[in-house]
Amino acid sequence: MVKVFVNGYGNIGRRLATMLSADKEIQFLGVAKYTADEKTRDALDNKFDVYVPKHNLKQFRDSNYEISGTVEEAVEQSDIVVDAAKEGGGFDNKKRLYEPMKKAAIFQGGEDRHGAHSVADMIHNSRVNYAKASGKMYVIQGSCNVSGMGRIMQPLAEKFGDEIERYDVTIVRRWADLEESKEVRDSIEWDESPHHQEDVKDFMPTANLFVEAYKVPSRMMHLHQMLIRFKTKAPAKDTIIEAFRKEFGVAILKSAKGTADVRKKALNLGFQHGDTNMVHIHQEALRVQNDVLKILYTDDQTGMVIPENHLLLQSMVFGRSREQAIKKTDTLFQISRRTRILEEEFK
Ligand SMILES: NC(=O)c1ccc[n+]([C@@H]2O[C@H](COP(=O)([O-])OP(=O)(O)OC[C@H]3O[C@@H](n4cnc5c(N)ncnc54)[C@H](OP(=O)(O)O)[C@@H]3O)[C@@H](O)[C@H]2O)c1
Repeated sequence: MVKVFVNGYGNIGRRLATMLSADKEIQFLGVAKYTADEKTRDALDNKFDVYVPKHNLKQFRDSNYEISGTVEEAVEQSDIVVDAAKEGGGFDNKKRLYEPMKKAAIFQGGEDRHGAHSVADMIHNSRVNYAKASGKMYVIQGSCNVSGMGRIMQPLAEKFGDEIERYDVTIVRRWADLEESKEVRDSIEWDESPHHQEDVKDFMPTANLFVEAYKVPSRMMHLHQMLIRFKTKAPAKDTIIEAFRKEFGVAILKSAKGTADVRKKALNLGFQHGDTNMVHIHQEALRVQNDVLKILYTDDQTGMVIPENHLLLQSMVFGRSREQAIKKTDTLFQISRRTRILEEEFK
């Protein structure tokens, strides 16, 4: 059985751990913790084996946490590591652990694709380049926004191709995740050079894309306003909706009025970690005027990338077809069933 270790236990690491521990096809080794805080107890309560850096062992044991071993030992035992370090930490892990031990790894979207700290030569988006990851040692799973953009742009590119002139995307990002304690400051902050543009162009190189990103004082989901300019008249609204009707991980909602409506619904419905794990097109806000189509969709920042990591793992490790992988991921995450539930709730 393929042995998988999650290096990190933050917002993404804990979700990856839930997902991997439920997948009977792999042997889940456990998670890494670096700080001896109460999240260690959370991991242990969830029955995850916890590994810590060698130099921190004493600190964790003095705090009465039952530790299974060192991070170094867990990486050595694994066949593939899913790295969930905070932004940029994956590069050091690769140099210090994965490369010397010849271990394959999946990195998260906060890592660099280019430059001195590049961790991999591709960014995965399951809707666009799933098969390209097969057999690779190192791949970055695109961030939530990048995953969402690929999921919306690729069906449009396939259906309308050359008729599309350009895509202009404004990303409105939450300040902090719901479970984070960090203060949400009353400010709207801009990003001088959003990484999302280059990241998406990594797997959609011919797309004429311009991205702006703003961070707003909210803990709810991300909102994307995508303007798609056509060479002549843009297609009718119904044609666009139909193009997304059967897309995996795309819900088409009518009556939601904001990001909190969707997030709170996921929490109230008891979805795991309060995630929908998908993007939601807001049908009532979809507009067509002359050559411009506007799609407004919300992107579940914390949940979006978890099924994406699961799909990527299936490409890298099992070399499965995308269709088979989607079936597996759907069984685990119940994405299709939850899409129907959300569409019914927001009809
Ligand atoms: N949050 C999101 O919505 C989101 C969405 C998509 C992608 N991502 C990406 O996912 C990655 C993780 O983000 P996050 O939000 O989960 O961050 P986070 O909540 O800040 O968690 C980061 C984790 O990294 C751990 N850590 C510290 N040193 C480490 C090391 N050397 N190796 C591995 N882990 C280490 C920390 O452990 P201790 O707590 O024990 O110190 C912490 O658990 C980033 O690349 C981010 O860009 C995040």
